[in-house]
Amino acid sequence: MLTAEQNERITRTGPGTPAGAFMRRYWQPAALTEELEGNRPVKPVRLLGEDLVIFKDEAGRYGLVHRHCCHRGADLAYGRLEDGGLRCPFHGWLFGVDGACLEQPAEPPGSDFKTRVRQPSYPCVEKNGIVFAYMGPGEPPAFPDFDCFSAPDAYTFAFKGWWECNWLQAMEVGVDPAHASFLHRFFEDDEEEYGQQFRGKTRSVSVTQVLREYDCPEIQVENTDYGIRIAALRRLDDARMHIRITNAMYPHAAIIPMSEDMTLTQWHVPIDDTNCYWYSIFTAYGTKVDKATMHEQRIKTVTLPDYRPIKNRSNDYGYDPDEQRSRTYTGMGMDINVHDQWAVESQGPIHDRTRENLGVSDKAIAAYRRMLLNGIKAVEKGEEPPLTLRNGDAAGLTGPVGIDTIGPAEGWQDTWRAHERERRDRSAWARADW
Ligand code: FES
Ligand SMILES: [Fe+2]
Repeated sequence: MLTAEQNERITRTGPGTPAGAFMRRYWQPAALTEELEGNRPVKPVRLLGEDLVIFKDEAGRYGLVHRHCCHRGADLAYGRLEDGGLRCPFHGWLFGVDGACLEQPAEPPGSDFKTRVRQPSYPCVEKNGIVFAYMGPGEPPAFPDFDCFSAPDAYTFAFKGWWECNWLQAMEVGVDPAHASFLHRFFEDDEEEYGQQFRGKTRSVSVTQVLREYDCPEIQVENTDYGIRIAALRRLDDARMHIRITNAMYPHAAIIPMSEDMTLTQWHVPIDDTNCYWYSIFTAYGTKVDKATMHEQRIKTVTLPDYRPIKNRSNDYGYDPDEQRSRTYTGMGMDINVHDQWAVESQGPIHDRTRENLGVSDKAIAAYRRMLLNGIKAVEKGEEPPLTLRNGDAAGLTGPVGIDTIGPAEGWQDTWRAHERERRDRSAWARADW
């Protein structure tokens, strides 16, 4: 439970807010690269409550600039992409990806006025299908060598989706290992049909069966240099322990296992205080991903251009009471992403954390909130928050490990570490590229 003041402090990320200052010290997903393909790569973007325009110039460089022209405020989302930048259609001012004003055609010849104005802009970097932007002061931090950034493009797939709620409740579902036994419960294990994201047997028991039959995990939380590592332990019998290792990474990403050979890194990025995007990079270790099939599966769940889910509040998320009785816990179909969306949107635009009652099974959520509040305080005190890496510190940070496996009831800690080493050994891209 938080006080009303803490809840405000931790959820609001607009310009000038404490959490906004903290978030702006990290790279933020701003768009998928696929949104900037085609013959006019210009798109309005709302990010941390700021109205912006992202574009790709003729040289393939990405720029993220304030949406309203610094001359007289016209909307640059309607700009002309030409002559090495984005040109405002009102009076023809031309801006480069770094916000430099390159031309002011209506000013008298010889005027140097253009050297004295600048369109506010943020630097961008593309990583495996996502354009990240740095909206903070000073030099941007380096990217850590995490698997989702280091893996070659062919081993990754990126996508996004809009949720109508504050980013923090979206993030908190990613650090809540207990919910999967309920929210994502399927009453039967049909590998073909049920639980699209939970396919694959972990040794002899399917993940859906483990989640359904062992619904009281022991949760252990450990602070790390990238955030927190969460172990959810389900004792299957005297000899065997089901181990699921997930992570929260500063400031707002969760890293979770998808299958034996794939992890998911998911950022929960504020559009504004009551809307957010999840951005995901799926990272495969063994074989290249089938991007076309993955894209086809996900693109049919959203509407463009905003990647808003087709199942949403307006159509009750596809809720079917017969299905809820006989097949799934929610009655909202097989896509666990829809279940999560319902859970977090149903908490309201900004979840009121003064009214909750956190139990032992919520300890990872409590740890994550502490981590955030400490980071916010650090920035307020003028300190560097954690994981804002300077070149050189970034190379040592790999992983983080997302694993779902079964080990011995005693000594299970060695199992996931061994499993991780095994995965690194057989990782096709790690062998080739590290
Ligand atoms: S308002 Fe953009 S050029 Fe005048
Ligand atoms: Fe979930």
